[in-house]
Amino acid sequence: MLTPMNFNSDNVHGVDEAILTALGEANAGTARAYGYDDWTLAAEARLCEVFERDVAAFLVVTGTAANSLALAACCPPYGAVVCHHEAHIVVDECGAPELFSGGARLMGARGAGGKVTPATVAALFATLGRGEHEQRPSVLSISEATELGTVYTPAEVAALAAVARERRLRTHMDGARFANALARLACTPAELTWKSGVDVLSFGATKNGAMGVEAVVFFDAALATDFRYLRKRTGQLVSKNRFLAAQMLAYLADDRWLRNARHANTMADRLAAAFRALPGVRLPLPVDANAVFAIVPRALHERLQAQGARYLVWPGEGPGTDTVGEHEVFIRLLTSFRTSAADVDALVAAAG
Ligand SMILES: Cc1ncc(COP(=O)(O)O)c(C=O)c1O
Repeated sequence: MLTPMNFNSDNVHGVDEAILTALGEANAGTARAYGYDDWTLAAEARLCEVFERDVAAFLVVTGTAANSLALAACCPPYGAVVCHHEAHIVVDECGAPELFSGGARLMGARGAGGKVTPATVAALFATLGRGEHEQRPSVLSISEATELGTVYTPAEVAALAAVARERRLRTHMDGARFANALARLACTPAELTWKSGVDVLSFGATKNGAMGVEAVVFFDAALATDFRYLRKRTGQLVSKNRFLAAQMLAYLADDRWLRNARHANTMADRLAAAFRALPGVRLPLPVDANAVFAIVPRALHERLQAQGARYLVWPGEGPGTDTVGEHEVFIRLLTSFRTSAADVDALVAAAG
């Protein structure tokens, strides 16, 4: 069903036409199964180009699988993963990281705007000092962009990864919205990841125009040695893998991934500028990617809902130093590659 003014998620829109076309083209003839087809080999090679080095890349179907498998590859069952306390891996994945790793513990550090800091991360790792009586510190996981729509600069990523590296720990990046972060930052994919100390990246595509594909990208090949087994064992090795690879290839072709993300970010900026001007509305967080978080009067929220607007009432803490008053609601609006200026303007008109 067509729901106009739908800002509930970047998953609510369909598939980029070019990616649908690529799927149709991949449908012709026969191909080797289980990832030994030409599309998969080409997608792996293309990811090496994008990241300007040899990477070990594996396609999976969901972001939850990408994160959980990436963490399982670098964290023993008795290990601990430090992340932000509102990270997707800890609040939105139904314990999959714990399941796939065979029992690792996720520990949430605090931090404004969905971001952890070297100090909060170091403090949390420091609580684990009693040897085998506690989980072994193993991985730092950061989200880029974060669940609260903010981004880490390459310098911030490097400072965080240094905290992990000093302790001989690994750094994982949840890049479900990596393209949106990159589109905002003046840097390369390499600078935002391995050049800043990231060991493994969950590289998202689904939210930004694909039908359903993500890549687990290892910058340290040693971590990927047994990954094929992990992926198969968890049901993420797709027999007709060419359909995942065809999506990834079309996504990366002609900078489509960055163009889509830039568009989504621009729509978020448009929405943010208009919402900032509404009486009684506050935007407590920077709009770094494709998410707009707003504290709005309850009356405005009810008016928008009555007119069919869709967005999330944010369940987490979110606004940091700002507080949500008794007659206010804290909401999240997400834009996507397909959100139009008319969609944004319709929402703003409904709010006015
Ligand atoms: C930060 C983040 N990571 C990962 C995911 C991937 O989740 P899924 O398993 O729904 O593809 C999401 C989806 O909302 C997300 O917001």
